[in-house]
Amino acid sequence: WLSGFLAASQGGAVAAPAAASKPLTVLYGTESGNCESLADKVAKEAKKKGFKVAMKNLADISVKDILKFEHVALIVSTWGDGEPPEGAVSFHKEFMTADLDLKGLKFSVLALGDTSYDKFCQTGKDFDTRLAALGAERIADRVDCDVDFDDAYGTWKESLFAALGTTASAAAPAIDLEGFAPTVEYGRKNPFPAEVLDNQLINGEGSAKETIHLELDLEGSGLGYEAGDALAVVPVNSDGVVTAFLAASGLSGTEQVEVKGEDMCDLKEALTYKLDITGLSRAVAKKYFALSKSDELGEIVSDKNKSEFKNWSWGREVVDLLELFPVQKLGAQALVSVLRKLPPRLYSIASSPKAHPGEVHLTVAAVRYEGHGKARKGVASCYIADEAKSGEKVQVYVHKNKNFRLPVDTDKPVIMVGPGTGIAPFRAFIEERGETSAKGDTWLFFGDQRYTYDFLYQLELQDHLKSGALTKLDVAFSRDQPEKVYVQNKMHEQGEEIYKWLEAGAYFYVCGDAERMAKDVNTALIDIVAKHGGKSADDAAAYIDALKKDKRYQRDVY
Ligand code: 2AM
Repeated sequence: WLSGFLAASQGGAVAAPAAASKPLTVLYGTESGNCESLADKVAKEAKKKGFKVAMKNLADISVKDILKFEHVALIVSTWGDGEPPEGAVSFHKEFMTADLDLKGLKFSVLALGDTSYDKFCQTGKDFDTRLAALGAERIADRVDCDVDFDDAYGTWKESLFAALGTTASAAAPAIDLEGFAPTVEYGRKNPFPAEVLDNQLINGEGSAKETIHLELDLEGSGLGYEAGDALAVVPVNSDGVVTAFLAASGLSGTEQVEVKGEDMCDLKEALTYKLDITGLSRAVAKKYFALSKSDELGEIVSDKNKSEFKNWSWGREVVDLLELFPVQKLGAQALVSVLRKLPPRLYSIASSPKAHPGEVHLTVAAVRYEGHGKARKGVASCYIADEAKSGEKVQVYVHKNKNFRLPVDTDKPVIMVGPGTGIAPFRAFIEERGETSAKGDTWLFFGDQRYTYDFLYQLELQDHLKSGALTKLDVAFSRDQPEKVYVQNKMHEQGEEIYKWLEAGAYFYVCGDAERMAKDVNTALIDIVAKHGGKSADDAAAYIDALKKDKRYQRDVY
């Protein structure tokens, strides 16, 4: 039985590849690692099929390199307001204006993104259009993926290989390996139910913030992680939200429905565990319009009002569509078809596995606000705050983040800037520095609203200062005085010292808010290098770019 299995898989592996020695370059631009892992997957499969495969990160090649390639599979994600991943920014910028003749190049693009953003998959679209405009031949259509990208990836990959001339798969015939595996492997497709060991509010009473320190048990899961990695949490929609949603839909919840790729279940179960029933993107509103046919909604989702949609939808959720534009005799399956799958949320891990073996800790800010007269809450953060109490189980898996790592050489100094929950990975880093008895200096800039309520992990940080795991701590409490004081103000005060550390080989890390904080910190860093390094603005920017290329400037921003 077992030998039969081995023979079968060998038989498969030996099948003659149809496209022996055809070159294929897999290019990727990655932020959180998803594109890199898909690039790796398609590269491995192409190798098995006999292609001569090269895999390259857009961060490591220049625009002219593209002239050397014959077949390109490009996988790239989009972040925030239509931006490329950090490492691909300069390649993208140059490529969009480069004057190259790409006749003879064959390509196909896989674009990753998130339909809850306006400029969904914009970077992939940019590359796809520009490659064609420069004369390259699109051999398989671009595929745009939402956050659950597996199926779309599968479709794209099939059409890519079909176009490249290898429909015959050289892979082994499908055999369910699960039955043979000695242990269960937990991951994205199979999250681990981790027991909550502790769930503590770490802001003082009177704070405007609600930050949760969560400790989970990973014992027996086989899940490992490193300081810098993230933990994906699979959230559950709250009873209250599901009940209101059902009421607005006019359905009972007992109707049988099918969510793509999953077993049939009743509607209530699908709404609770499987579907995103809050996130009101334009994509969802358009699908709902196809059912409701309301003229007013038609206006709202029309292309000419594209830029106004964000304003209109702010503070609204899918339930508001159901209430504002009710559909007579809405079918349960039709409703399901409007919604996307409930995406897991990534949280930067706040613990070092060396300091807390068998455990993983998170620092989570509960998101609660009022929108159009209703109390709204962040799905995952409030699930953690309200439901993930001691003894409960939370579905999780580890998401590697190779782009956020302490220097391997522990003698190197590190500077970390992490206001609010941005402190999470730095708690892990500081613990790690302590556990590895790092000789290099470690400096943290932390900020939050008020000293009295919001100095997260204050006692721990003071202990780390005593032990030497942390060398220097600067704090900015923005609302303790009439003028706002932010981490970047503290950086400016310490500009001379920061420049000295950088010159001594320091690594610089930022974690937290991407929209404002990380941008302001970046500007502060450039100013500091210009001022204290006696450089022009351009030279200072080049200095920072060089830090990035050397992986000495790393960001984990959201
Ligand atoms: P604020 O809320 O008082 O404006 C963590 O949320 C801390 O980051 C808070 O003290 C917050 O201040 C601060 N913060 C807000 N905007 C910021 C920015 N652009 N740069 C740095 N810190 C900022």
